[in-house]
Amino acid sequence: MTLICVLEGCDGVGKSTTADRVAHMTKASVFHHDRPRGLDDIAAAIAHRTQREVFTTWRGRTVIGDRWWLSTLALSHAIQSTADAHESDEEHDRIVAHAQRLRSIALDERASEEARGLRVVTVYLRASLDTLRSRTSPARRGGARWRALPQTHAAYEALAPTWCQHVVDAEQRAESVAADVALIVQRERRV
Ligand SMILES: Nc1ncnc2c1ncn2[C@@H]1O[C@H](COP(=O)(O)OP(=O)(O)O)[C@@H](O)[C@H]1O
Ligand SMILES: [Mg+2]
Repeated sequence: MTLICVLEGCDGVGKSTTADRVAHMTKASVFHHDRPRGLDDIAAAIAHRTQREVFTTWRGRTVIGDRWWLSTLALSHAIQSTADAHESDEEHDRIVAHAQRLRSIALDERASEEARGLRVVTVYLRASLDTLRSRTSPARRGGARWRALPQTHAAYEALAPTWCQHVVDAEQRAESVAADVALIVQRERRV
């Protein structure tokens, strides 16, 4: 089995920073996704899933994942939450179908992981919306992802109790967040 300890949460919560620190502390490998350019949500979700395929061949390793399929599920949930605000039934149905498609991409991957030799343990990094905003550099504020932050945050809060085995307080300073996650990785390795 390959153990994948995944860090999940909103933009700015500290996933990339923590993943690098924890990989160093626990002598694990770290995996950051390449963010594909110019693809729609569905094509991007499929591209991300394809990038993760590499780990089915890494028997016995521990990998710190900077996001995994829960990011796709959270996106689906956030999109779905906007559907009711649309006046026309057609637009509502189009949004629901789009969210459903993303959801099945995420859940199909989740359902196949054991058969493919992966044990995925998900850690939710939790912080308030104000903290997330303050950690986003001014240059990255204002885009579509930034505007969707309240919906994305609500989606993670709703999904974490079901899908995340651990929750870490990401309001702490970076060293403390990494120490908490490293302890989780060490315990999960012994399971
Ligand atoms: N615990 C922390 N306390 C304060 N600042 C942090 C903390 N973790 C990360 N940061 C800073 O917040 C910003 C976003 O962190 P990053 O790791 O890129 O988040 P993510 O990958 O989740 O989007 C960076 O400037 C990083 O240095
Ligand atoms: Mg990042």
